[in-house]
Amino acid sequence: MFYRITRPLKYIGLGFMVIIVLALAIAPFSKRLIEQWSRSDVEARSRLVYNAIQNPVVRAIADSDASRLSSIFESVALDERILAVGLCDEGGRLLNPTKLMPATFSCKKVARSEAESFSTIFNDGRRILVGAFPIVERNQKSYLVILTDLSFIDARSGQAQAFIVAALAGVAIAIAGVAAIFVVVMLRGWMSSLRRAIEEIRSGAISSATSHDRSAIDIQIKKLLGAIEVGQETIRSGQIDWSPGTLQELLHKILPGAEVIVISNREPYIHNHANGAISLQTPASGLVSALEPVIRACGGTWIAHGSGSADRETVGRDDKIGVPPNAPSYALRRIWISEEEQDGYYYGFSNEGLWPLCHIAFVRPQFRESDWQQYEQINERFADAVTQEARTEDPIVLVQDYHFALAPRMIRQRLPRATIVTFWHIPWPNAETFSICPWKERIIDGLLGSTILGFHTQFHCNNFFETVDRFVESRIDREQATVTSGGHETMVRAYPISIEWPPAALAGQPSVDACRSQIRQSLGCAPGIKLAVGIERFDYTKGILDRMKAVDDLLIREPTWKRRLIFVQVAAPTRSKLTSYSNLQSEALTLADDINSRHGDDSYQPIRLLIRHHEAAEVFKLFRAADVCIVSSLHDGMNLVAKEFVAARDDNNGVLVLSSFTGASRELSEALIVNPYNTQEMSKALDVALRMPGDEQQERMRLMRQQVQEWNVYRWAGRMLIDAAASRQRRRIFDISEANHMR
Ligand code: G6P
Repeated sequence: MFYRITRPLKYIGLGFMVIIVLALAIAPFSKRLIEQWSRSDVEARSRLVYNAIQNPVVRAIADSDASRLSSIFESVALDERILAVGLCDEGGRLLNPTKLMPATFSCKKVARSEAESFSTIFNDGRRILVGAFPIVERNQKSYLVILTDLSFIDARSGQAQAFIVAALAGVAIAIAGVAAIFVVVMLRGWMSSLRRAIEEIRSGAISSATSHDRSAIDIQIKKLLGAIEVGQETIRSGQIDWSPGTLQELLHKILPGAEVIVISNREPYIHNHANGAISLQTPASGLVSALEPVIRACGGTWIAHGSGSADRETVGRDDKIGVPPNAPSYALRRIWISEEEQDGYYYGFSNEGLWPLCHIAFVRPQFRESDWQQYEQINERFADAVTQEARTEDPIVLVQDYHFALAPRMIRQRLPRATIVTFWHIPWPNAETFSICPWKERIIDGLLGSTILGFHTQFHCNNFFETVDRFVESRIDREQATVTSGGHETMVRAYPISIEWPPAALAGQPSVDACRSQIRQSLGCAPGIKLAVGIERFDYTKGILDRMKAVDDLLIREPTWKRRLIFVQVAAPTRSKLTSYSNLQSEALTLADDINSRHGDDSYQPIRLLIRHHEAAEVFKLFRAADVCIVSSLHDGMNLVAKEFVAARDDNNGVLVLSSFTGASRELSEALIVNPYNTQEMSKALDVALRMPGDEQQERMRLMRQQVQEWNVYRWAGRMLIDAAASRQRRRIFDISEANHMR
């Protein structure tokens, strides 16, 4: 702005200088010019007079009539410019001079030439032009002299100079005036823009509000901006101990009064009939174990499929129950799904379609139109439930996993102002792989209803961008990590999921030594035997067969491990209705029998396959008792078992053998990282793990524990909520500003 004013001012100054220089240059020049003009004017006039009186003068001379000559001369001298007239004879005498003939005039100074001549004399300080015109009569030459006062020329050139100076001064004054007006106008504009800018900084984009409104809006927007700052400040400082308290405090600061609603397929608490009573089960689900501590910290409502046999009996009339049952801190709203719907939505499209599609485990996905329809219908049902549960028009809705790819768009249609954070807990494949899904565009569009879409790793985010780019019309900003489609922007970010720290299941655990001896006792083996464990759902993506083959390979290559090593595989039955899962179970049983028969006998079984659900406390006891934990997933979004094993080992002992195809391998680099498809590599890693000296184990475990502690599940949720809050505040600021511009 300043530049815009100073630049024209520079030109105006320059113009001024030019005018002054012009005035100085023109002044002497103009004087000379006027003098020349005036003099030639006077000469012409004298010549005119001469021509006019020549004949009468000649006749008067011829007649020697002195009085006629005098009267001719007197009448000529009446002209106010002509001072005097006379005749100079050949002898240089002055004849018949008129009355005002100056005394200083002498005919002797008149040039005696054939033609007219002009000269200048001075009298009383005045300049006088003397014009001498030859007159010849009877062979006698005389000169008619006409004297003209030149002092009028000085007056005239003085006037002209004054006029020029006045004219230039006028121009200069005019320029100065224009410049002054220009500066005033510019300064005014500048001041008002400055005022506006200050106003904008103070009150966002609001400029047309009344002063009362403006101060109210000021306060509102300052609060919103402040809240964003708090969130970002929190995330910037890496030193925060993320805990339920931190998360609650953060929520209070950045999302005061916000309503949190979670939707997931699997519920956190399942009520089942067992032995004539109702038992409570917490499912084997990475999603549930990650999200439950978060919602406990935030409060709110969790909407999930009521899958337990006693679920209907345990809810109120609104299908809700306060949980955790011993100290309720949030509401669980159960959604009822018929068996037929379950076959299509859950077993069919979710687990026979999307699950194998997104995991590279070389199991062919099945796509059936009827499954897709059920999937759509159940997504609608959950979206409706969100609308029913929402007490405000802009709740924070946390949509979980591949069961609800369509729900974000459906919720957005029902609650346009909701902040929808969708987390995809499994990998996202590359575009080529995803392209085989017949409803790929609908799935992508459904997810793009989210405000934020999270994956475990940047690699999966990149795959998603690539897929969007290939199949839907959108604008992808890779720098900002956003996709804009149909005017709506979705942030796509990596949020590596984790576990609570310290884990609740660790509380009340016996010492590591006690766990070791209790577990060995329950397995019926000697106290000094080495124990390797694998614990997960019985899923073909987990590489359960592959790790059993690695144990087999180790026992073949290093038979000294026989009777010194037991591998315990805890496998919770899951999705058993599907052939790919039931086949896996029978294959695993057969393989375990085969290995046990080749390497064992009645007193020694190297593979112990425990196919049943284990509660978290049992799992942690097993982790604490183990020397090695094997996580050999063929493909896994994150894998929380690896993190739980690390969390369980507060003695810093134990070795983790971890598949490079898990998201966790990006964070737990002190584990022994293996390719589960390479049996020999895995068996060698197992050997190394079993022989690893205590101090090396401690060193590695300490670093991994530090990582899991710092990057715990509260941080995972906190980062997403901070981004959600920032996006929500930005939208609110935009809304306020929009409303204001509409006034
Ligand atoms: C994975 C999925 C979860 C799912 C869990 C257990 O971790 O990402 O969404 O809950 O497996 O599977 P299930 O089908 O028993 O819920």
